[in-house]
Amino acid sequence: MRFSRALAVAAFALCPLATIAQTAPAPKVPQKPVQRSAPQQVARPAVAQTPPMGWNSWNFFAGRVTDQDIRNAADQIVATGMKDAGYIYVNIDDTWEGDRDADGALHSNSKFPDMKALADYVHSKGLKLGIYSSPGPKTCAGFAASLDHEVQDAQLYASWGVDYLKYDLCSFRQTVMSVQAPNDKAAQMRLMVAAYDKMNKALKATGRPIVYSLCQYGWDAVWEWGPSVGANLWRTTGDIQPNWQSIYSILNEQAGLAKYAGPGHWNDPDMLEVGNGKLTPAENRTHFSMWAMLAAPLLAGNDLPNMTPEVRAILTNRDVIAIDQDRLGHQATRAYSEGELDVWTRPLSGGAMAIAVINAGSDRYSTHPFHLSLAKLGLHGPLQGKDLWTGKDITLTDNMPIELASHDILLVRIASPK
Ligand code: GLA
Repeated sequence: MRFSRALAVAAFALCPLATIAQTAPAPKVPQKPVQRSAPQQVARPAVAQTPPMGWNSWNFFAGRVTDQDIRNAADQIVATGMKDAGYIYVNIDDTWEGDRDADGALHSNSKFPDMKALADYVHSKGLKLGIYSSPGPKTCAGFAASLDHEVQDAQLYASWGVDYLKYDLCSFRQTVMSVQAPNDKAAQMRLMVAAYDKMNKALKATGRPIVYSLCQYGWDAVWEWGPSVGANLWRTTGDIQPNWQSIYSILNEQAGLAKYAGPGHWNDPDMLEVGNGKLTPAENRTHFSMWAMLAAPLLAGNDLPNMTPEVRAILTNRDVIAIDQDRLGHQATRAYSEGELDVWTRPLSGGAMAIAVINAGSDRYSTHPFHLSLAKLGLHGPLQGKDLWTGKDITLTDNMPIELASHDILLVRIASPK
């Protein structure tokens, strides 16, 4: 049974920091055993109380990422105002790993000459560092992973100052699940859950607050058991691609998952592709808006040193970020669809609400607009709101015509829905 996070927070608040950081030295003289009323737990401050925000190297750099790219990303997160907008984690994805030495200690490869120095650099910017591994012998890109070295690796990450771990199933399937439990799906799943719990416990034992991100592509209804293995987020889908088909199909797979998200534990529809590939401005806006509606982690994945002002404006839209980071942590639900138009709503703190209307089809102009039914949302107009992309006030009335270009979105925050 997992140590209650609420209890951990309470314990942390009650104890002075020094008490928590210290471990009592082993007594040299035999003493009467001390009676303990509860097992000793290392209290850690709660992490990911709102969806984690930051940047990850994979979507743009994939296997090419280097130490310098990570430093550049950290510099740009500060210089572009992304840090001020809430982007904090700078996450190294796969391909940083080198070999293990005779003691089993993992070393980074030549692309990352000094991980501790890199972590110090990222921290000196007021940012946090994320890293990547797998429960199998190899990562998805074929680099050394954590099987049978979980405790050692967790301690290593903590010694470097790592603040976030993405743990990606990869080779654990072929080398452990399929070998130890061939033709027994239930047993395979138990092996997988145990592997995720093993790293959870190893991370907890370090005493360092480390965000724990599960990546096993949404298999076996991970949202049902993710929290029980200490996950702060779990991927709900396969890998995202920088094109509308990928983004829109992932979005649709999120319908119905709202009840599994909340402070400390989030559904992860994968990292952002805003600014990547050939996504149009409308597609970038819709992608970003809907990840915010989904209370998804906002992990940018673009080329920060060469970001256009337009992409920067999307990624730093404070009103949209505020939807994502709303402290209630209620994920949006799809209220209704009509052909290629979808309407999603998200309850916000203070009784407010966000409404998103997406046009997944071709342009809808005044000759054939979409008519928004407030009644289908349990509301009636007129409703005063703010259009979060124009920044202007908007009044929603029942059956009002809405003109939307192809793949574009109307995102409105209503302060007092009725
Ligand atoms: C998997 C994950 C991706 C990325 C790569 C790295 O495909 O789903 O997000 O981490 O592995 O190899």
